[in-house]
Amino acid sequence: MQKLMTLFDRVGGEQGVRNLVRSFYDRVLQDPELAPFFENSSIDRMYAMQYEFFAAALDGPVKYSGLSIHQAHFGRGIEKEHFARFVNHLIDTLRAWQLSDQEIHLLISRVNTYADEVTGNPVVSD
Ligand code: HEM
Repeated sequence: MQKLMTLFDRVGGEQGVRNLVRSFYDRVLQDPELAPFFENSSIDRMYAMQYEFFAAALDGPVKYSGLSIHQAHFGRGIEKEHFARFVNHLIDTLRAWQLSDQEIHLLISRVNTYADEVTGNPVVSD
């Protein structure tokens, strides 16, 4: 039986996903509303962890070994509008990678499930 290509394969496997993550972070770091959040962060670690995260989210053969998304973003003051800008840069990057609207929609719906963890909105309020 023919094996279906994963999104990881569609983006070009390991090298393709690494390139995609770099291109995406170029956009994020050029955005004056988002760049200040990354001022004290190790960009090399970001690339490595984001590669793992996205490779796994694209159904690639990679296990994410970083902090939980909640832990990585807790207390940073990231608001919904920052999250929306971040996701828009991701959509622009994926379009430039010639993924179909359906493929982009699938990945964005996965990423959107992390909105509350990134913005630190409490799941339990008491
Ligand atoms: C769904 C959306 C997002 C995902 C999946 C995501 C994913 C990640 C991952 C995997 C890491 C690395 C964690 C580690 O070092 O172990 C990270 C770190 C980080 N993220 Fe995000 N992120 C998202 C949205 C955002 C947004 C919207 C901002 C700010 C505007 C942001 C700011 C940061 C910063 C500053 C760090 C570095 C933390 C440090 O220096 O240790 N992230 N993120």
